[in-house]
Amino acid sequence: MNNTAHATSVIAQFPADQRVTTVAVAGATGYAGAELVKILERHPHASIVGAFSSESFSVEAVLESKAEVVFLATPNEVSAEVTPLLLDAGMRVIDLSGAFRLGEPSQYPSWYGFTHARPELLGEAVYGLSEWCNGEMKKARLVANPGCYPTSVLLALRPLTYLIDRTQPVIVDSKSGVSGAGKKADVAFSFAELSGNFKAYGVGHHRHEPEIRQGLHLGERTTLVFVPHLLPTVRGIYSTMHVGFTNPVSDEEMTTLYQDAYGKQPFVRVLKAGKIPELKDVVNTPYAEIGFQLLQGGRRAVVVSVIDNLLKGAASQAVQNFNRMIGYGETCGLV
Ligand SMILES: NC(=O)c1ccc[n+]([C@@H]2O[C@H](COP(=O)([O-])OP(=O)(O)OC[C@H]3O[C@@H](n4cnc5c(N)ncnc54)[C@H](OP(=O)(O)O)[C@@H]3O)[C@@H](O)[C@H]2O)c1
Repeated sequence: MNNTAHATSVIAQFPADQRVTTVAVAGATGYAGAELVKILERHPHASIVGAFSSESFSVEAVLESKAEVVFLATPNEVSAEVTPLLLDAGMRVIDLSGAFRLGEPSQYPSWYGFTHARPELLGEAVYGLSEWCNGEMKKARLVANPGCYPTSVLLALRPLTYLIDRTQPVIVDSKSGVSGAGKKADVAFSFAELSGNFKAYGVGHHRHEPEIRQGLHLGERTTLVFVPHLLPTVRGIYSTMHVGFTNPVSDEEMTTLYQDAYGKQPFVRVLKAGKIPELKDVVNTPYAEIGFQLLQGGRRAVVVSVIDNLLKGAASQAVQNFNRMIGYGETCGLV
């Protein structure tokens, strides 16, 4: 019996929820990649067979690792270039970059500054907002892990999609800790610039804007105002959203919608009506917390959502997706 046939027969003896899956992490020395490695090291059914920095990385090295699943925590352009090669070699890919998140290839040159060499993969990629993926994740060859801001926003607003009045602007005011920008050296991210400071940036041209628009099915007519801010902290995302509704809603209706969406989901906690979440309750955890306050007799709401950008906004969500892909328990390696 050759090696492949032997491995296949061994794998076949174990149910999916017990067998070990070999994984590799590219970008393992970055902020998101390092979190991934930490989680995968303690995952009872994952075995890390490759971890790469920019220096040790090459497509050949990843192929040599023979990993079944490759996590890419690499810059967008790198993920766009190497993903097709890994897929062609039969590997499955969970990409933490934005390279496969947008469904429309024509958006890449303007929002990401490059043209996709394999645009057909954008149609195949499963957008991995874990709580909103079901059967498609099991068959996925390519998962586009959502951006950190979009994760916080989409988790909070997706359950309200059919209530939102699309003739009014959807206003998303988000704040991120500095690790959201990765470990790059840049004066704007230095301690002296950040400590005691707070500022908005990228207004009107942040690349997470089309991802949020796409994820909420807003089309081109609804105004989306997305204002990212830089918090003088290392980790965490705090998104405050302002929405108007077509018809007035009650606290009970909102609570039921959130309960239907997340009542059985282990990593999304919805607070009681009128209670607003805080960053410290989710930083360093794989959880998202959502709270809301209705205004003007239920015709408007302020919704607040908090996550850790490196965990629910990146690494822990990627492992949730890995668990769903292979058929492990949702919380495996994460709690
Ligand atoms: N930070 C977040 O909160 C967050 C959240 C969601 C998604 N993401 C996405 O996740 C990815 C990683 O983000 P990050 O914040 O962890 O960035 P980071 O801290 O800058 O790390 C980047 C990683 O990629 C490696 N790398 C850089 N250029 C490479 C190349 N040409 N070939 C191979 N590897 C290369 C780096 O290796 P060296 O250490 O050798 O430089 C490092 O390991 C990005 O696409 C980002 O958009 C980040």
